[in-house]
Amino acid sequence: MCGIVGYIGDKPVVDILLNGLQQLEYRGYDSAGVAVMCENKINVYKAEGKLENLSSELLIHKDEYKNSTMGIGHIRWATHGAPNVINAHPHTCNCGSLVIVHNGIIENYKELKSELEKKGAKFRSQTDTEAVAHLIAYIYNETKNLTEAVRLAAQKIDGAYALCVMHSDKKDELVATKRNAPLLVGVGENEYYVASDVPATIPYTKKAMYLNDNQIVTLTRQSMTLIDSEGNELPKKVETLPWEPVALSKMGYKHFMLKEIHEQPDVIRNVLTGKIHSSDEPIILNEVKLTKESLKNLNRIQIIACGTSLHAAMIGKYIIEDFCGIAVDVEASSEYIYRKTVTDEHTLVIGVSQSGETADTLTAIKQSKARGSHILIITNRPDSAMAREADSLLSVNAGIEVSVAATKSYMAQLVSFYLLAIYMAEIKGNMNTEALKTLKSDLTLVPQKIEQILSHKEYIQKCAQYYANTKDFIYVARGINYPTALEGALKLKEISYINATGYPAGELKHGPIAMLDESMPVLSILMKGSVYEKLLSNSEEAKARNARMIALTNSKDEKLKDLFDFIIEVPEIQELLSPLIAIVPLQLIAYYISEYLGKDVDQPRNLAKSVTVE
Ligand code: G6P
Repeated sequence: MCGIVGYIGDKPVVDILLNGLQQLEYRGYDSAGVAVMCENKINVYKAEGKLENLSSELLIHKDEYKNSTMGIGHIRWATHGAPNVINAHPHTCNCGSLVIVHNGIIENYKELKSELEKKGAKFRSQTDTEAVAHLIAYIYNETKNLTEAVRLAAQKIDGAYALCVMHSDKKDELVATKRNAPLLVGVGENEYYVASDVPATIPYTKKAMYLNDNQIVTLTRQSMTLIDSEGNELPKKVETLPWEPVALSKMGYKHFMLKEIHEQPDVIRNVLTGKIHSSDEPIILNEVKLTKESLKNLNRIQIIACGTSLHAAMIGKYIIEDFCGIAVDVEASSEYIYRKTVTDEHTLVIGVSQSGETADTLTAIKQSKARGSHILIITNRPDSAMAREADSLLSVNAGIEVSVAATKSYMAQLVSFYLLAIYMAEIKGNMNTEALKTLKSDLTLVPQKIEQILSHKEYIQKCAQYYANTKDFIYVARGINYPTALEGALKLKEISYINATGYPAGELKHGPIAMLDESMPVLSILMKGSVYEKLLSNSEEAKARNARMIALTNSKDEKLKDLFDFIIEVPEIQELLSPLIAIVPLQLIAYYISEYLGKDVDQPRNLAKSVTVE
């Protein structure tokens, strides 16, 4: 993970680096640091914790760097070594003349470290990155050519990296390279920006060049040179990005998460725009290239994802199997990549990722692409590395999500899965057309049903506060809402640190029921439909063990009042679409518990929004 930035030009560099890092805070917030080229040497400033700590530190030293127009910066999500100042980037060689920032993991850092120590390198931190600083410095001392030093060092490194490097000898030179981690160069007038992601460069320039793996870029104020790992010069592909700078504002909400929960009705409307015209017409997915013939050739579908996207994928499985009659497997990408999978050209592989750059999912996608599978990517970032691997693309259009806990992007992924499943059912022609029509028209009604839930959120807040001091929380559901239970539990874990778990309700009696007593809240997702009565019986079993019962339901069933302490009502909806409605109160419960406990809702401890390490 981590975010890196760099700048070379004629503007005061520190503001640019800090603004860039602020845009990349979603990538980590354990510590931050910058290195800037001053008159005779490079100055390094670092601070533990959030970026604001670095800003305060920099303010103290503002006279030292006021004329500086070149530098690099970093925001960290700790992998090797505790999140403290020593381990914060930039890292330097022994004498401090070479500095680097790094995103990724250097897998052979221990071997490099022991080799370099023998040559006199003095290691100060516990990071993997520091080995690269010493390695490049060591080669530079022999070659006096920074680009060449980076190129040769890269050949000795195993692992993933995006690196930006500068040396105090080279007052007009920044060098950057990458392998299996994102990096781009923003191109201005006699100035260049380096960043892990577009939001850091777009306020300054819409022109950018994405680096491919193993390419090395050398930037001076007047020039940009791109070479491959052999040192051959390459043509530069500068694109004009279809992005607008966005001011990240909470719009009066206390947290981004609450704002993003409230944006969901409009997100759904956005996702549906241009794809459903009327319930009589087929769904249009312009960038999905599946045909009747290709669907006929499929043996199965494999969906790969992580975290919240994995829960969206589990609902995707349910509806694709239901609507299309094709077998679907879902697997966490991190598990998929280290076993012998039977994916081939008869498998459709669907990768789901909000960021489009999650390392495990990206690796899994590349593996299945190499085996000849058609790759369909569902992502919120059509410009991402994953999207670039896609044969078919479903861009979810959720807009930028700032809160680390995903809400509106999950909603957009779910809606995209519904569109995809209906689209495939329409191509296959195996599903009753009346049922498809009803699905399409019911889908367009979801935004207003969510608005109804949001307009009664005070009851959910009251319920959340009532349970806020619990140590554990169980969510149960059956059928299509089992993944909703998992996602509800994940939201609560992520932002309140309460031990929350989702179970298929039928499994309660096979073990988890042993944990139930009068201290345990159990929330049942009781949506009307095929499993309603069964889930009611499972809830009775929990009640008989004195659990503190909460219902999330669209039923007006009177007998619920005897069984549950709190009944959170949601609008009626057909069972197959109910995950779209049911998740909203669960997001709110997690939000209100976290807020009540005074936790850092938008930037919970230990997490990052984009995980670019395996
Ligand atoms: C991180 C985030 C989660 C996210 C997961 C997968 O763990 O904290 O919110 O669900 O990565 O990310 P992706 O971008 O692939 O959906």
